[in-house]
Amino acid sequence: MEAQHSLFFRFIYYKKAMQSGLRLVWFCGFFLICVSFYATQMLLPSSFKNQIKKPSVFRSDSSSPTITIFTAPRPFDGLVEEKQVLAIRSWLGLSENVNVVFFSQDPSVISFAEDFGSRVSVEPNIDFTFLGTPFFHSMVARSLASSSDVSVLIDPDTILLPDFISTIGYAYKLDQDWLLVASSQNISHFPFHLNSNGKHWIADDGKHIGIHKLQEFLVKKCHRKPCGDRILLAWNNGDLPLHYGVLPPFLYGKGLHNHWILTEALSSDFRLVLDASWTISNFYLNDLDQENYQLIKGFNISDFHKRSWEIMGNSHLGRLYGSISLREANYSNLFRFLKCGGNYLFVNTMKNIIYPLGYKRSLSLRKKGITLSSTEEEILDCVNVVKSLDGIKGCSVKDQLKLLTSILLPLSLESLLSMRANQNKTIVLAVAGNSYKDMLMSWVCRLRHLQLENFLVCALDHEIYGFAVLQGLPVFKYANPPTNISFDNCHFGTECFQKVTKVKSRVVLQILKLGYNVLLSDVDVYWFKNPLPFLSSFGPAVLVAQSDEYNITGPINLPRRLNSGFYYAHSDGITIAALEKVVKHAVNSNLSEQPSFYDTLCGESGSHRLGDDRCLEPETNLTVYFLNRDLFPNGAYQGLWEEINVKEACTNKGCYILHNNWISGRKKKLERQVLSGLWEYDISTRMCLQSWPRTKFTSYF
Ligand SMILES: *[C@@H]1O[C@H](CO)[C@@H](O)[C@H](O)[C@H]1NC(C)=O
Ligand SMILES: *[C@@H]1O[C@H](CO)[C@@H](O)[C@H](O)[C@H]1NC(C)=O
Ligand SMILES: *[C@@H]1O[C@H](CO)[C@@H](O)[C@H](O)[C@H]1NC(C)=O
Ligand SMILES: *[C@@H]1O[C@H](CO)[C@@H](O)[C@H](O)[C@H]1NC(C)=O
Ligand SMILES: *[C@@H]1O[C@H](CO)[C@@H](O)[C@H](O)[C@H]1NC(C)=O
Ligand SMILES: *[C@@H]1O[C@H](CO)[C@@H](O)[C@H](O)[C@H]1NC(C)=O
Ligand SMILES: *[C@@H]1O[C@H](CO)[C@@H](O)[C@H](O)[C@H]1NC(C)=O
Ligand SMILES: *[C@@H]1O[C@H](CO)[C@@H](O)[C@H](O)[C@H]1NC(C)=O
Repeated sequence: MEAQHSLFFRFIYYKKAMQSGLRLVWFCGFFLICVSFYATQMLLPSSFKNQIKKPSVFRSDSSSPTITIFTAPRPFDGLVEEKQVLAIRSWLGLSENVNVVFFSQDPSVISFAEDFGSRVSVEPNIDFTFLGTPFFHSMVARSLASSSDVSVLIDPDTILLPDFISTIGYAYKLDQDWLLVASSQNISHFPFHLNSNGKHWIADDGKHIGIHKLQEFLVKKCHRKPCGDRILLAWNNGDLPLHYGVLPPFLYGKGLHNHWILTEALSSDFRLVLDASWTISNFYLNDLDQENYQLIKGFNISDFHKRSWEIMGNSHLGRLYGSISLREANYSNLFRFLKCGGNYLFVNTMKNIIYPLGYKRSLSLRKKGITLSSTEEEILDCVNVVKSLDGIKGCSVKDQLKLLTSILLPLSLESLLSMRANQNKTIVLAVAGNSYKDMLMSWVCRLRHLQLENFLVCALDHEIYGFAVLQGLPVFKYANPPTNISFDNCHFGTECFQKVTKVKSRVVLQILKLGYNVLLSDVDVYWFKNPLPFLSSFGPAVLVAQSDEYNITGPINLPRRLNSGFYYAHSDGITIAALEKVVKHAVNSNLSEQPSFYDTLCGESGSHRLGDDRCLEPETNLTVYFLNRDLFPNGAYQGLWEEINVKEACTNKGCYILHNNWISGRKKKLERQVLSGLWEYDISTRMCLQSWPRTKFTSYF
């Protein structure tokens, strides 16, 4: 240990000497061909001294780190499968210390993981869009929760060579937290195969090909896209966060997210940021639609449409979450991680600083102006070569945004319905304005948790439409939204409330006419379990609705006790005719639509009531069935919301849902739901609550 403290006061630099670097051969980036490196001197201009944080002493423990590689594979199929299998085998063959985690919900991915045994597992519990694209912020949060020494995020078809392990092993010895990035390169053809244990690459003739041969092959063939989207990220499991602030809900594989992390990590300056593009051989076989993350569920809209939708979402997101996310990175804190003559160096070309690491001899400062020895020249050759290279630097986010200035493309109601409806042609519909966006998200997270995918969101205003698109929700805009509905107190009894509720019945009618059954659910309805099998069992010509009756005893179909915030309407002529009457009635009413439902279907003073829990509308023959309140309690029933453990109280009753109504004011409503634990969305990280731990870094913010 005693020698190591002095290892980090290093030398540099002579502009003159830089010119000589040109004679070094540089193949496009996998390794520096450097003569052996015996630096014993340091020329550090005093102005640079202590200006940057130095990679400090190495840890003494020499155990190799455990590494978990996180990736979001596409479904295993055809050419995609071949490439992903090769890449994943290349990772697993690197070391027994490497484990792999897939972010996916696709059955082909799950069965593939099973074939690989215990070193490969699947994490389906992150956030995905309705198109099946995983959210990058959710992937990162899950990876940060990993307990392995080093976490890696990589594209699923990026192949790694063994220099990955040596580089990571080296970085792991740093007694300082780091974030490592390495840009990936594409080649069109790689004529080697992995042998059966995945540890060696072999040529067609069966001969083993060593790492140097592979690198030599690669440097001739590879094309480094200086600012490709393909970047490998790795970090040690340390005490410092990767960056300041909250990662926006970027979609994985749609651009900008890697740039965002890098920019933020550099400007936050928590961790040493290392560009290891030259020490980690990582590449992928060119694929035809490499930009286009394949969607998990097949449906019929053009790829262009899907892609634009999501890429624009990311670009829009960059704008939404402040200038910081879209500014150009400041690379003055970036260190390039190089291997020069068998030794590792960290070079900061902006500040002209080199740290040759790992020397076992002490170094002394030498004054400027003395003739350089040949070894020093060689070192400077290395540096010079590096200075002329792009690496991950030189990425202009402006280029990525150039094409993305137009507005988000909407998906039509018809196409969303055909994508989303379940096999019974049933849709769960939520209608929401911007002031209910958090509640909408909690509702969506709950449905996702129940594995219900057949929901749609109708956006009442532009803000929530944009928000929902960015959150990956299947959303459409109501064609003629009532004006001014986004203010905070759009609650029961207000004029705003009346306008909003009237939209709901119209949208429901529109969807019924397109041939789909609708379960309309307000976003303040908490779902304990899936009510659809039960609700669909009533069949045609029955409208099944929640009762708003608060009296524990007595009939539940008394005047104006129909709650139009939770009802199931079957798509048939009778139901459509009846709902048309409701909509017509509502237009001429100065009240909300709820009384229109009751007055139209059950008669103004309940004249069409049938027994204690039904009505029969005589003109259309529609039956209204009021749902048992033990199973579908409203917010006033039995004081359920006042229970100490609301969840338990409802579960014991066998509730399907619980409506958070009968409370005045959006804030109180929100508070009641959050405090009761019937809340599924983390507003600060913009993710559904998951079973895995939140990042341990929250205390920083
Ligand atoms: C690498 O990708 C770029 C752009 O995606 C493409 O133009 C180039 O031909 C690819 N290179 C190879 C060797 O396939
Ligand atoms: C997809 O939609 C297009 C028109 O939008 C249609 O021509 C084509 O037949 C559809 N394909 C399938 C598989 O439904
Ligand atoms: C980049 O950051 C350094 C400090 O780390 C600062 O001195 C420099 O002015 C910054 N450059 C730009 C272009 O913001
Ligand atoms: C919207 O309604 C609120 C509350 O009634 C009112 O204060 C505000 O001025 C209205 N805005 C517009 C644009 O009408
Ligand atoms: C579809 O409808 C049938 C009969 O109404 C019902 O048994 C089944 O559970 C429904 N399926 C779903 C997914 O709701
Ligand atoms: C509840 O219903 C019972 C009869 O079913 C009635 O006697 C009682 O007055 C009602 N209570 C209220 C508060 O309306
Ligand atoms: C609503 O309209 C009815 C007549 O249709 C009228 O009697 C009542 O006063 C109106 N209420 C309000 C709040 O405007
Ligand atoms: C309603 O039912 C009655 C009796 O079953 C029948 O006579 C009448 O034609 C029906 N009306 C409609 C609109 O179907």
